[in-house]
Amino acid sequence: MVQGFSREPGVQGPLTEVPPQGIRKITLWAVAIALGGFLFGFDTGVVSGALLYIREDFDLNAFEQGSVVSVLLIGAVVGSTSAGALAERLGRRRSLCLVGVVFLVGTVIVTSANGYAILMLGRIVLGLSVGAASATVPVYLSEISPTAIRGRLLTMNQLMITLGILIAYFVNLIFASSEMWRAMFAVGAIPAVLLVAATLWLLPESPQWLIARGRVEQARRGIASVTNEVTADQLVKRAQQRIEEDRTQQAARKAAGSAAEGPKRLLAPDVRPALIVGLTLAAVQQFGGINTIIYYAPTIIQQTGLSASNSIFYSVCIGAINLVMTLVAIRLVDRAGRRPMVLVSLALMAVSVFMLGLAFVVGMSSVLTLLFMVIYIAAFAGGLGPVFWTLIGEIFPPSARADGSSVSTAVNWVSNFIVSLAFLPLAGAIGQGETFWIFALICALAFFFVSRYLPETRGRDPEQIEAALQQRFGRTRRRQAARTH
Ligand code: BGC
Repeated sequence: MVQGFSREPGVQGPLTEVPPQGIRKITLWAVAIALGGFLFGFDTGVVSGALLYIREDFDLNAFEQGSVVSVLLIGAVVGSTSAGALAERLGRRRSLCLVGVVFLVGTVIVTSANGYAILMLGRIVLGLSVGAASATVPVYLSEISPTAIRGRLLTMNQLMITLGILIAYFVNLIFASSEMWRAMFAVGAIPAVLLVAATLWLLPESPQWLIARGRVEQARRGIASVTNEVTADQLVKRAQQRIEEDRTQQAARKAAGSAAEGPKRLLAPDVRPALIVGLTLAAVQQFGGINTIIYYAPTIIQQTGLSASNSIFYSVCIGAINLVMTLVAIRLVDRAGRRPMVLVSLALMAVSVFMLGLAFVVGMSSVLTLLFMVIYIAAFAGGLGPVFWTLIGEIFPPSARADGSSVSTAVNWVSNFIVSLAFLPLAGAIGQGETFWIFALICALAFFFVSRYLPETRGRDPEQIEAALQQRFGRTRRRQAARTH
């Protein structure tokens, strides 16, 4: 083990002391990595517009239309579940390259589809890609981030998701008059090609992943490109020391008969609190109802009495608010911290979606209804939306990070699938307003869960986060880092 280096707090990957020009380069890397998030958002946004024309071309019934949208979510569950193992085996960079290639293949299939079956196949392939991207991007971002701006860089994922949604709405707008749905999907090839190019020529492999595999020289070169030779040597040694310590602890656990490898590691007592928090937040992020607004905003708006012809315009407004508030969140996340942001976000979401429900039940004016909807989107985008993706890159210890991110993301997609499928029938059965009240209740319960179980992660290293989680779950703190809590 390398001796003589003090522990820096807050380290997820080896990059800690980075000069300003290095920060600029890392920010560029983060934007390139988050293109994976852009693909996720673009696909979310484009299908709603394209569907209007596909359904005429292919003569789709209501069930078939719904399945064109939701089959992507099934692909995404599979993609995100497999992403952990892939990112461990191939590395973060090559996994992301594969994500881009699979997205291109999916785009070619969808744009050349001559009927429903081929279209469904293309949507599944696209789903595999966006699912894998959504699980890999937070891990990769986390491992190239310097501590001080880790929150900001991890939030980049959500920024690119929201940007993807907004650009897709514009693309829908551009091609709507000519009814060129194939062109709408084809635009997605541009960010996919950029992503593949970035993984081939711009991005370094995660130094954390390289060092853990003994590829120290390659990691050192990557780190030196944003620091200098001397600092790179020190950072690599420090990272080796941390990995060595992790392995020693793992060996001790093995000797005590409580060690687990691979995905099973997620159930180990030291990782379980992170798993509970990750999975609960993943479910809440969807069961709070966000995608009923993102996917069905035009339908909902129409029910308030406004004209359908303006629906794409309103979607663009919702998309813009979503993006602007994500930018606000990026500025706040490393200052205010993750915990207060999620708490404020959930409280505002609960109140606004309750009021939205009330607006439908008692029949308030469309202006008021729209206002509650806007507050709700803003509350999500300024907190729970981006901070969920930040947290799943942070709460798991390095040895379980890729798998932890993978299962949390999969639960997020499954929940997305359930809510998207159940929303319209549920609203039909118990009423639109009453359905929004269920979302309000979920947000309120989530508020109490977060205030009880989510520790602050800002500026903390994996050991401190683990200790803080253990403490909140009332377990004995076994690690020395616990004292720093
Ligand atoms: C969610 C997506 C949602 C998007 C809206 C993301 O954080 O995971 O399901 O569509 O935010 O901006």
